[in-house]
Amino acid sequence: MKNLVLVGFMGSGKTVVGKLVAERLGMHFMDMDDEVERREGRKISEVFAQDGESYFRRLERVLTQELASQTDWVIATGGGIVLDPRNLDDFRKTSVIIGFGIHVDTVLQRVGHQTHRPLLEGGDKHKRVQKLLAQREPLYRAAGEYIDTNDRTIDEVVNKVVAAYQKNP
Ligand code: S3P
Repeated sequence: MKNLVLVGFMGSGKTVVGKLVAERLGMHFMDMDDEVERREGRKISEVFAQDGESYFRRLERVLTQELASQTDWVIATGGGIVLDPRNLDDFRKTSVIIGFGIHVDTVLQRVGHQTHRPLLEGGDKHKRVQKLLAQREPLYRAAGEYIDTNDRTIDEVVNKVVAAYQKNP
């Protein structure tokens, strides 16, 4: 079966939803951030602090190429996967891609208190989220079928993802 790739901003629910969808569809699940941490033997925040964002993007790129050459994965990507268009081009060959929509306030409600995302640390979080979201929203929207997660429960989003995948397995 094709992979099912979830893209969307930090806090949009890619990991939580992806795990449930994988159970429902009987597919393997991978969270790309977790896999990068496992391979590196350190946290994403340490990768950013010690080697910088561009190093992290290279790790993401390599993992994307590997996963895109396989099948049967439900994949929760990191929020920045859409920044390099080659990532979506690669995934598109073997995967159904689904984009998650989320508003600034919902992001802040869901992840505002967490501290493990380097891009949200320091300065005014609201401004940071607003800026990043403005740059990326069009990319998430154009990635594939698009699901607004703002006023939906996890179960509702899971159902929508499963339905979108089953239209195009
Ligand atoms: C990032 C999102 C994070 C993680 C890294 C960078 C981003 O993943 O990959 O901190 O650029 O949006 P989540 O979307 O899982 O938080």
